[in-house]
Amino acid sequence: MANPIYILNGPNLNLLGMRQPEIYGRETLEDVAAACTALAGEMGLEVRFHQSNHEGVIIDCIHEARVAGSGVIINPGAFTHTSVAILDALNAFEGPVLEVHISNVHKREAFRHHSYVSLRADGVIAGFGTEGYLLALRRMRTLVLS
Ligand code: DQA
Repeated sequence: MANPIYILNGPNLNLLGMRQPEIYGRETLEDVAAACTALAGEMGLEVRFHQSNHEGVIIDCIHEARVAGSGVIINPGAFTHTSVAILDALNAFEGPVLEVHISNVHKREAFRHHSYVSLRADGVIAGFGTEGYLLALRRMRTLVLS
């Protein structure tokens, strides 16, 4: 089996399902983690699912993925639009990186249109709701196993 896929979630995503459900939907992050774990199992992959409200903790997870992971799927939340440090950490990771946003950031405020992480991401999914994580996982399977 390939090394695990790290699925990393940034600030406020712990409130998924409760926070602005008209934008982010009613599914919780636990629901998303369970769906990702189930799909990964069907595809012969293992996932490590993390969420943190702290930039440094997300960076530490990316560093862990450098040695223990085969790919990173990341929804950096608002750090998407601000964090050069997360971009630098992802640039130090050698495997595939996919960026996920639950909402369509391009339909929202102008400050959400720029992503530092997109400078590194091999693919970006936005506006597919929480299904975006599963789509990213399917793509990750192709990138990691082919
Ligand atoms: C988000 C979009 C970001 O702009 C926002 O700050 C988030 C969530 C999304 O999944 O749509 O926290 O990354």
